[in-house]
Amino acid sequence: MAEPRKLYIRTYGCQMNVYDSERMGTALAADGYEQTDRPEDADLIVLNTCHIREKAAEKVYSELGRLRPLKSARPGLKVAVAGCVAQAEGAEILARAPLVDVVVGPQAYHRLPGLVGRARETGEAQLDTEFPAEDKFDHLPVGAPARRRAPAAFLTVQEGCDKFCAFCVVPYTRGAEVSRPAARVLEEARRLVAQGVVEITLLGQNVNAWHGEGPDGREWGLGRLIRALADVEGLARIRYTTSHPNDMEDGLIAAHAEVPALMPYLHLPVQSGSDRVLKAMNRKHTAESYVRLIERIRAARPDIAISGDFITGFPGETEAEFEATMDLVREVGYAQAYSFKYSPRPGTPAAGAGQVPEDAKADRLARLQSLLSEQQSAFNAATVGRTLPVLVEKPGRHAGQMVGRSPYLQAVHMPASPADSGRILPIRIAAASQNSLSGAPEPAPAETG
Ligand code: SAH
Ligand code: SF4
Ligand code: F3S
Repeated sequence: MAEPRKLYIRTYGCQMNVYDSERMGTALAADGYEQTDRPEDADLIVLNTCHIREKAAEKVYSELGRLRPLKSARPGLKVAVAGCVAQAEGAEILARAPLVDVVVGPQAYHRLPGLVGRARETGEAQLDTEFPAEDKFDHLPVGAPARRRAPAAFLTVQEGCDKFCAFCVVPYTRGAEVSRPAARVLEEARRLVAQGVVEITLLGQNVNAWHGEGPDGREWGLGRLIRALADVEGLARIRYTTSHPNDMEDGLIAAHAEVPALMPYLHLPVQSGSDRVLKAMNRKHTAESYVRLIERIRAARPDIAISGDFITGFPGETEAEFEATMDLVREVGYAQAYSFKYSPRPGTPAAGAGQVPEDAKADRLARLQSLLSEQQSAFNAATVGRTLPVLVEKPGRHAGQMVGRSPYLQAVHMPASPADSGRILPIRIAAASQNSLSGAPEPAPAETG
């Protein structure tokens, strides 16, 4: 039998790209490719790319530059660019980086094995950035991965975005909102659980806008889907990301109160605390409505950890408008957050006039991040002395140490063995830093009577 061809995939960007890379790996495995961690051994290199900010997009071109010597050394090596840069720039990639053999968008990657095959046969570059009418998920093989799975997995339930925030490329790179039917999601969840998964994070660019067909033929919302997933035997934990404030329906908020498997953590980006900026961003909500929404969610699940995304220096943002963001952050209190300087993206409405100078963007980002770091440290410190159920995931940096996740998505270091991976252990938290916790398993309670 011929040696299997070797595949190297590098993933940039969001969790959906992590999920997509896994699906591409499975699709290519069915075509005889075996994955390697060494690009220099590869017969096919796939870069799964992100276009969200300029820096993310530029990384692709520097990586392609680094691949040039590999390609000269191995003429049989094929290079594919997948993901959101592929979708946004298409043929431009081939012009800028002639070593690329395949450009494939996020909605067409089920066709990747065919595209690579054709590039090999013809020696010509292949480009597919269509939004095909068929559902890629129906065309992707579902084979079990060779290795035992990590205990936590992603599962895409919704893709694309119809919101068109003025700064964002996602509606252009991922296309219109599509929800996968509940039965498909449940089937995939059961398969993951059979492979050893105990925690699933449901993914979507607007995951809480999910409205799929239920097995009963009716339209379900995400809260309903989460209740059905909670009934999957062996699935202990459910999370979902990323949500939009305007899609936080009552059924989903109620699920936070009533479904124990739904973890008390919510990533709910707000971007800015200024109503004028929010309007210019086309977010279609106000700072006040966001804060009231958080209050309702906290009423349902008082210990919920709130996470967010923020942009500093959106076009036209004044110092006072930035201060409104700081006020909102103080009012909400975040367990964790991501924040970015505004990056003008070609083709998006905000990329034109009114740009804020780079140093003002950077200064505001530093002030915001210092406040968010303080809040994160305080949130973590408040868990010291508590015993939290921690899902043990993977070996830590030191021998005899494992790392896992608390219900609030905090990384927790603890003495444990690789055999504990996939178990949920009661860990008494002894210390906290800004980015993680540490503790030790609580001794089993002494038997009484
Ligand atoms: N679909 C998710 C995430 C979108 S991208 C959502 O709607 O929340 C993740 C984050 O990147 C966004 O929430 C936003 O804070 C940031 N982002 C998107 N476009 C950006 C841009 N042009 N410049 C800076 N940050 C941006
Ligand atoms: Fe981008 Fe806004 Fe859609 Fe999120 S909701 S993906 S920020 S356009
Ligand atoms: Fe980036 Fe595309 Fe995700 S632009 S953030 S990889 S949806």
